[in-house]
Order: sequence, then C-alpha cells, then structure tokens
Amino acid sequence: MGTNITDEKEKKMFIGVIWSCAAEVKILCTALLFLCSLLTIFQFFPSPLSFVSVSDLRKCVSAIPTSPPPPQPIQLDHDLQNGVIKRSFDPRGAAAYNFILMSAYRGGASTFAINGLSSKPLHVFGNPSYKCEYVPHNVTHANESIIVDGNKILPDWGYGRVYTTVVVNCTFPIPVGESGGKLVLRASTNGGGDTEDTHTDIMTVLDEGSRSVNFSIFNEPPKYDYLYCGSSLYGNLSPQRVREWIAYHVRMFGEKSHFVIHDAGGVHPEVMEVLRPWMDRGFVTLQDIRDEERFDGYYHNQFLVVNDCLHRYRFMAKWMFFFDVDEFIYVPKDSNLKSVVDSLSEYTQFTIEQRTMSNKLCLTEDEGKEYRKWGFEKLMYRDIKRGIRRDRKYAIQPRNVFATGVHLSQNFAGKTTHKTEGRITYYHYHGTISERNEPCRQLVNETNLKLDTTPYVMDTSMRDAAVAVKRFELKMIGSALQNTRQ
Ligand SMILES: *[C@@H]1O[C@H](CO)[C@@H](O)[C@H](O)[C@H]1NC(C)=O
Ligand SMILES: *[C@@H]1O[C@H](CO)[C@@H](O)[C@H](O)[C@H]1NC(C)=O
Ligand SMILES: *[C@@H]1O[C@H](CO)[C@@H](O)[C@H](O)[C@H]1NC(C)=O
Ligand SMILES: *[C@@H]1O[C@H](CO)[C@@H](O)[C@H](O)[C@H]1NC(C)=O
Ligand SMILES: *[C@@H]1O[C@H](CO)[C@@H](O)[C@H](O)[C@H]1NC(C)=O
Repeated sequence: MGTNITDEKEKKMFIGVIWSCAAEVKILCTALLFLCSLLTIFQFFPSPLSFVSVSDLRKCVSAIPTSPPPPQPIQLDHDLQNGVIKRSFDPRGAAAYNFILMSAYRGGASTFAINGLSSKPLHVFGNPSYKCEYVPHNVTHANESIIVDGNKILPDWGYGRVYTTVVVNCTFPIPVGESGGKLVLRASTNGGGDTEDTHTDIMTVLDEGSRSVNFSIFNEPPKYDYLYCGSSLYGNLSPQRVREWIAYHVRMFGEKSHFVIHDAGGVHPEVMEVLRPWMDRGFVTLQDIRDEERFDGYYHNQFLVVNDCLHRYRFMAKWMFFFDVDEFIYVPKDSNLKSVVDSLSEYTQFTIEQRTMSNKLCLTEDEGKEYRKWGFEKLMYRDIKRGIRRDRKYAIQPRNVFATGVHLSQNFAGKTTHKTEGRITYYHYHGTISERNEPCRQLVNETNLKLDTTPYVMDTSMRDAAVAVKRFELKMIGSALQNTRQ
C-alpha cells in the first residue's frame, strides 16, 4: 500500500476535482482536500489508496462536521492585588480511562464481581471508589433498587503500567434479581488526579433477563474436576510446543477437564491448527482478548484475564489451575492428580514448586533424532543451582476465591499450603514456547554437569511420559497433527 504510482494517480485525481470546483469554493475545496489527503496518507482509510475515487472524496468531504464544537476558553493567568502573579492550570482530554469494563459475573444470589482496568496513577495517588446498584426490571412490588459500596480489590501487586487491574466485589445484604434486573457500577475518581473535580462514570455492567438467572448453579456440584485458566498468549509461539503441552495436560487432567486459552495475539494460524482438534472435542475454549492491547497493563493484562477466567468459570470447576504453556505439571509415578488434590482438599489454595529445565541441553544419544523428539522428551537437564528464588504456580478451589493473581491468590476464604514438595511440581522450559528453531543447542552425555557455574542433573521424569502422551494424542484426535512444525 502507498506506492509512488498510486500516490501519483491520486494527485492527478485531486487536481481534476479542484478544477471542477467553482472559483468561490476553491479555497474551501483546497483546505478540505489537504485534510483528506493527509488522512489518506496516514492510512486512515481501510481501502488501498488506488481505489480512492471522486465518490470516496465526496464522502470524505461530507464527513467533516459543518460546525466544529467551539473551543473551550483557556483560563488566563492574572495579577493579584499583592503583586503576585496567579498562574493557572488548564486540563484537557483524558489521560487514562477511569474504568474499562471487561466483564461482570454473578457469584451467588446477592454477590457479583466486576472485572476491569483503571488508571493506575488514580489508584496509586488517589482513592477512587465504587458503588454498585441493582435495579430490578420489575419494580412494581419491591424496592426500586438497592445500592451498596463496591469493595475494590487490586490483585496485580502494583505491577500495572498505565492501567491496573480492578475487581469490584458487589455484595448486597439481600438476594437481588430473582425476576431479572441490571447491575450498575458507579466509578468515582474522588478527586484522584484533580482534587477540584470528582468525576463519576455510571455504567450498566450486567443485564439479567427475567429468566436468565438460575440460582441453583451456585450450589450444584461443578461440571469439571479441573479447569485451566491460561494467561494472555502473545508473540510467535511454536505450534509444536503448544501441541505437546495440550496433549500432555489433557491426558493428565482427564475427561472432566477444560482448558481456557486467552489469545492476545499468540494464536496465529499454525497454533490455531493444533488447538482446533481439542476445541472440537470440547476440551479447549479459546477467548480472543486481542483488544486488550489498546490498554497498557502488565504483560498483556494477564491479571485482568485470570480474574475474568476465575469468575466466569467459578462454579464450573472443583479445582482451577494457573500456570503457563511452557510449564508442565508433574506428579510422581506412584500417585495421580486426583490423589494429590484429594490429599489437599482442606486447602482453598496450594502452590506448586518449579523445576527449572535447561532450554538448550540435550542428550548426545539423540543426535540426528532431535527434530522428531518432543520438547519435554529431549530437554532433559534440570538446573539445580541453589539459593535462587523460583516462581511458584498454584491451584485453587474457586468457589472460595474472590480475586486471583498469576503466582498466588490473596483474596479467598480458607487456607493456603506451600508444602507440596514431592507431591506435585511443575517443569518449566523457559523460552522454548516462543522459539521457532530447534531448541537442542548442545549435546551432552553426563548425568551431572556444570555450565557457566550452573549445575545441571539429568532428569528423565518427563521423557518417560513421552511415549504415553504421543499414544494418547493419537487415540484422542488421530494423526491430524503429525506434521506440526516447531
Ligand atoms: C465478595 O466478597 C464476599 C466476602 O468478602 C464473598 O463472600 C463473595 O463471594 C464475593 N463475591 C464474589 C462474586 O466474588
Ligand atoms: C411484576 O411483579 C408483579 C407482582 O409480583 C407481577 O404480578 C407481574 O407479573 C410482574 N411483571 C413482570 C413483567 O414480571
Ligand atoms: C425496602 O427495603 C427496606 C430495607 O431493606 C425494607 O425495610 C422495606 O420494607 C423495603 N420496601 C419494600 C417496599 O419492599
Ligand atoms: C436450574 O438448573 C438446574 C440444573 O442445573 C435445573 O434442574 C433446573 O430445572 C433449573 N431451573 C430453572 C428454573 O430453569
Ligand atoms: C558417553 O560418554 C562416554 C565417555 O565419555 C562414552 O564412552 C559413551 O559412548 C558416550 N555415550 C554416548 C551415547 O554418546
């Protein structure tokens, strides 16, 4: 788009139009034309330049408002009587939105969670507040509406950038909406940036039809044993690595499991191909969240996304897991996932220790065969350097959880345990998921070795699972993915 040739063509067309303008409107024409060609050059038109015609131009001219809104007068400095100059400050525009709604979900007969983003400086330096109003559709026989203070939870540990993630918990003293109604959020800046101005935005965040709420789901046993909530996926992901990850975890999590994947730009067509068979079989739900890129938050707004996932699926799963697609949950061979979570059922949350794997060391005996081996099959060296704080991942019983994070939830009822060592761990293959080349860079043969002061041991646990995982994939979805590339 925008080649010299099309630009030339266009110039000629523009000149033609100017000639056809009457003399008295020539100046206006030229001005509008200048504006329009500016717009064109900056590619505000979705269609290629070569298709710009006189009729397009007319559209362009008519799109310009006849009378622009009058500019607000600026406040002037003025001299005070005591000889001091009173300076003024003149605010305009919107630096960051007060509230950006992603979702609102019911969490029971009288409680809701609203998930969104909000200007981070507003929360760091000000004290914005929220009110929740439930407005029944049928107001003939009951109170017209009911308003409570919303309890704001900021689950992202101050990691936000322009925006921070906010979960507003709205809990009413009585059940609301038995015959339908609307949940309305009132988000107030309370001064915040400007102590002179309290700005309140009012928005309907949930509209429940008279028959749409079935209160019994809050007390029924959940549909799934395990639900995976993924963080935002972005970048040029390796389809083969994603293929391996999903086959491994569907096998481990079993028939009553579900995987929610969030596409922030990482699910390109080849990744879509490896997800498709699992979507068709009901194991995977893909959420397109690419529009979150408009709002600059922490790592593609992953804190917002995990909270949306928590509240969206809160009553559908007994356990929810939060980890990444370059991480593999592992339980020792003499146990299984069910026996592990059953032994931890008294806890609302347990955290999972990391085993860090090298993303380039492979076995000498795999030489020449690396390309055919799966990532967790050939990357066999575990980094055992001591004294390093390694991230943990976690699982929760979501019905007791009100907001969540990436490594931990801090808003829940009940207990957390970190003592899961030896019972459940995860293998982390950092940097392999966004690598489109062969990860094996160095072939070694020892069981123990040291590389640049980092000690490694050979760890065959994951390699041992490869045969069964490949067989499982074949059984479940056939041979559709046999030719997947790195
Ligand atoms: C809101 O918080 C209360 C207690 O703090 C909790 O009982 C309720 O489940 C929460 N609601 C949601 C939707 O998370
Ligand atoms: C509103 O409530 C009244 C009293 O309970 C009931 O008779 C009426 O059918 C309701 N209207 C709607 C539209 O639900
Ligand atoms: C409205 O709510 C208040 C407090 O919850 C209650 O005392 C009152 O009876 C209600 N009014 C109606 C018409 O339901
Ligand atoms: C609510 O859902 C349960 C099953 O989830 C069903 O048995 C019941 O009939 C539903 N109630 C209504 C009013 O739809
Ligand atoms: C591993 O190394 C030993 C000695 O360094 C050698 O004898 C052996 O053949 C090697 N094994 C493989 C599979 O390369």
